[in-house]
Amino acid sequence: MSGIVKIFDTTLRDGEQAPGCNMNIEEKLRVARQLAALRVDAIEAGFPIASPGDFQAVQKIAREINGLVICALARATEEDIKCAWEAIKNAEKPRIHTFIATSDIHLQYKLRMSREEALERAVWAVQLAKRYTDDVEFSAEDASRSDVDYLCQVIKAVIKAGATTVNIPDTVGYAIPNEFGRLVATIRERVPNINRAVISVHCHNDLGLAVANSLAAVQNGARQLECTINGLGERAGNASMEEVVMAIRTRGSFFGMDNNIETKKIWQSSRLVSDITGMLVQANKAIVGANAFAHEAGIHQDGFLKNKETYEIMIPESIGRSKSTLVLGKHSGHHAFRRQLEELGYKLTDEEVSRVFKRFKILADVKKDIFNEDIVALIAEEVYIIPNIFELEHVEAHSIMGQLPKAKVRMRVDGQSMEMESTGDGPVDAVYSAIKKIVKNDFPLVGYFVKGITGGTDALGEVTARIQDGEQVVNGRGSDTDIIMASTKAYVNALNKLEQWRISRKKNGK
Ligand code: KIV
Ligand code: ZN
Repeated sequence: MSGIVKIFDTTLRDGEQAPGCNMNIEEKLRVARQLAALRVDAIEAGFPIASPGDFQAVQKIAREINGLVICALARATEEDIKCAWEAIKNAEKPRIHTFIATSDIHLQYKLRMSREEALERAVWAVQLAKRYTDDVEFSAEDASRSDVDYLCQVIKAVIKAGATTVNIPDTVGYAIPNEFGRLVATIRERVPNINRAVISVHCHNDLGLAVANSLAAVQNGARQLECTINGLGERAGNASMEEVVMAIRTRGSFFGMDNNIETKKIWQSSRLVSDITGMLVQANKAIVGANAFAHEAGIHQDGFLKNKETYEIMIPESIGRSKSTLVLGKHSGHHAFRRQLEELGYKLTDEEVSRVFKRFKILADVKKDIFNEDIVALIAEEVYIIPNIFELEHVEAHSIMGQLPKAKVRMRVDGQSMEMESTGDGPVDAVYSAIKKIVKNDFPLVGYFVKGITGGTDALGEVTARIQDGEQVVNGRGSDTDIIMASTKAYVNALNKLEQWRISRKKNGK
């Protein structure tokens, strides 16, 4: 191995820009802690000028997370750069990431600037950022559609101005691997001071080529990859962190490279981001999909049983995914339970362990076998739950063939118990309709997803309910062996999140 490719995670910035994926401050902190445990080299914590919530989240992450670079995004303006610095100034290793577009199409229609003006602005922005911190990254937005000579001129100038990382984004996911690799090679050949900066790439997945383009860039000298957990991001998303990391790790001798990632934390990270954002991971997704390590065809199973290497190029344990082995049952004690949590990588307080243990016992009464995945779902619900304004007290739903389903719901709203009945197209619809009557609001349900966590008809079902209030979209989660209950919990969780968001907006004077 001759070098390390740095992993710059932008789940909290570009990832969060994906429709419906916004996270609150506490959720962003949880993701940032997980990214630190994964040992990424840099976290792009957000775009502080975008909103007071984004600013606060970046500030909290900068104050709490040590040992790696904490980066904030800023356009090439004084206001953005000052704001980015304010948010990250307490970080142990702060980085300002400033950008301006360099393609003619962006210059002409979006920025209404000439090439000369954009170049001057880029240099000015880097010089301004440099007054605050030595670690400055510059991105030439839409680099892959920019004139190569001009792009090289901009890169040379920003490095001269002090940029320590130069990022080449394929902003619209237009590049093809050979072509993108050549672009990086050309930059290395033509920019005389390129050795003074790290070359980074940031690839979008519009043609499904983000990972391939990132890897082609590594082969041609890129030493930082910008990526997101589960490939979240604008439109079709960004290069998926787990895919680029495992490609480099698994084919280390081909690339002559490695990365610093603690790959055993990959599965847990993917699961956490999916839980928080409500973006389910497709079953056949590389590395973290439910089927990524499943061998179904008889001929494959036969070979696999004779020698795993016939059909397995990575082992599930390498990404922290033990096979769905039975871990605990009804008679397991508090001690064994705590040990299992620790093995899964959770460091919980005594009080949190007791809460999850209580839920585990209730689950063990209705579900014979409890798997790691079940425990992770209970933790997500019990420990990471947000303070409740709305509390569920009673749910009843009836479905009779040929009749309209009916539901009765009782909830505590601000300490007061309220009950409503309603009908609906199905039992879940009837429950949701009763809840809407209680909270006297009709937030549209913009997404509803059900997932079986482990196999069998007694499996824990996990529901994500996505609701919208104006511009704000939140994802609520609920799990239960009863799918109506899981759906109800998910909706109430979403209402609580929305309420929490409203309260924090009020505090910020909005
Ligand atoms: O896609 C893009 O070009 C970006 C830049 C801000 C790096 O996200
Ligand atoms: Zn991007």
